[in-house]
This record gives sequence, structure tokens and C-alpha cells, in this order.
Amino acid sequence: MAVHTETKPKSSGIGARFADKVVLITGGTRGIGRAVALKMAAEGARLALGFFKSRQKAKETESEVKALGAECVMVRGNLANPESIQKMFGEVQEAYGRLDIFVANAAMAMFGPTLEMSLEDWKLTLDANVTAFYLCSKEAAKMMDGHKGKIVALTSYGSKRYIPGYAAMGTNKAAIEALVRYLAVDLAPRGITVNAVNGGPVDTESLRIIPGNEEIVKESVKRTPAGRIGQPEDLANVVAFLASDEADWIVGQTIIADGGVSIY
Ligand SMILES: NC(=O)c1ccc[n+]([C@@H]2O[C@H](COP(=O)([O-])OP(=O)(O)OC[C@H]3O[C@@H](n4cnc5c(N)ncnc54)[C@H](OP(=O)(O)O)[C@@H]3O)[C@@H](O)[C@H]2O)c1
Repeated sequence: MAVHTETKPKSSGIGARFADKVVLITGGTRGIGRAVALKMAAEGARLALGFFKSRQKAKETESEVKALGAECVMVRGNLANPESIQKMFGEVQEAYGRLDIFVANAAMAMFGPTLEMSLEDWKLTLDANVTAFYLCSKEAAKMMDGHKGKIVALTSYGSKRYIPGYAAMGTNKAAIEALVRYLAVDLAPRGITVNAVNGGPVDTESLRIIPGNEEIVKESVKRTPAGRIGQPEDLANVVAFLASDEADWIVGQTIIADGGVSIY
């Protein structure tokens, strides 16, 4: 059951990019998802923030968003479970009666040597990432029926390049980028725009748990023209742009934001 609190967004006036837009962000309570939530809240959005295990973090982010004057409901669910996905979208419907923007941000990471994963773990990553994006997009599109909508997915540089131990996630991210193209074409006639943001290494917990991450970061900073690792806001800015009316002409694209590291 979603907890709904009525508070008027501070910047909901004319000119705020997300004034009165209802936005669901999966994994919206920490890392990049949290940065997207804070940015959109400050620009007038009415938020639904997905979380799974991190209850404390969810509470903290909810308080931060509400301190900005934004409406916010928290929706708990396991994206690896189709029923849980339906329940999550049902709670958004119940709280707001509509959905304008869906940000597919959550990722369930599984790391290890390419051929040493158990079949169970391999299938779980596909369920929690690719199938979850497919099912969430289906639910989002239903809720966007009859009005304009935006879907933005987060992918990563491992979709196109080799990162040690990242085969499962890299495969999932590549599949999500492919699905973005198909959804974009199929949903464009209904006024729903679908795109992805492909990020280079960003300083969040999920990067810190990649085996050998310090070496990966050191090497990538060396090769990054921008000379630094990304911050959650670096990707949140691109997500917000793609979710805004300013990006209406961008359809089915995967926009790379990585400080230039992928040029080499
Ligand atoms: N960090 C990077 O270097 C980087 C770079 C490029 C792209 N990205 C992408 O950007 C997105 C966010 O990354 P991040 O680093 O900010 O992630 P993060 O801090 O590790 O957070 C992952 C989020 O996903 C949620 N989640 C995990 N499994 C879930 C499940 N089964 N059901 C529902 N929610 C689940 C977590 O919720 P709970 O904590 O509540 O369980 C958490 O909010 C991901 O798609 C990631 O692949 C990250």
C-alpha cells in the first residue's frame, strides 16, 4: 500500500520542467535514482520512488524529496517478480491516477567470471533487469494511454565494451538498449518517447561492489578526457533532459554520458 502525502511542489509554477508530472523511478532512493528524484522534485514533479531492500535509505530519500516540497509515494517491490511489478504500478495508479514519466533505473547486479555463473543467477539477472524493463514498460505504456509519456532507461558502458566480471550485466544492458529501440518505434505513434542513458563509471555503491573496481576506476579516469569519475548528478541531468519536453525529437536513442572515456 503506497503512503500518499499531499504537499505542493515548490517549483510547480509555469516554467518548471516537470510541473505536475507524475514520475515513477525504480531504485529511486539511492545512487543515480536518488539524484534523478531530487532533480525532478526540485522542478515540480510528483514522485513515486521504487525500492526493494534498502528501507532506511528509502525513508531518508522520501524525507529529502518532501523537504523540497514535492509529493512523494514510496512503492516497494521486487522487479524480478512480475506480480510485484504489477502491484507497484497499481500503487502509483491508486496514488496519482496517472503516469507521465517512467525512469527504469534499478539494476540487480551479479558479477563474476563469464562462464562461472550458475544458471539460476544468470536467469535471475535477466528477470530483474531485461524482463523487468519489458514488463514495467508495458505497465507504464498502459498508464500513459491517451496522453504524452516518456520512458528513460539507465544502461552502462558494459553494454558495448568489456568490463571484467560484468558479462551478465553487460548482456542485460545491451538487451535493454535494443528493447529501447523497439519500444520507441512501437510507442511513438501513441505519443510515448523511449530513450536510454548509457553511463560511464559513476561513484555509487553499485560501482564500489564490482570486483577490482579501484583498478577499473583508476584506469578509466586515466583515459577519460573529462579527467574524473562521474557523479550521480552527471547522469541525472541527462535523464531529466530526456524525460523533458525539450527532448521530444530524440526517439529510441542511447545517449552516452561518460566524460568521453568511450572515445578511446
Ligand atoms: N554506478 C555506475 O557506475 C553506473 C554507471 C552507469 C550506469 N549505471 C546504471 O544506473 C542505474 C543506477 O545505478 P546506481 O549505481 O545508482 O545503483 P545502486 O546505487 O546500486 O542502486 C541500485 C538500485 O536498484 C534497486 N534494486 C536492485 N535490485 C532490485 C530488485 N530486484 N527490485 C527492485 N529494485 C531493485 C535497489 O533498491 P534497494 O537498495 O532498495 O534494494 C537500488 O535502489 C543502474 O541501472 C546502473 O546499472 C550505473
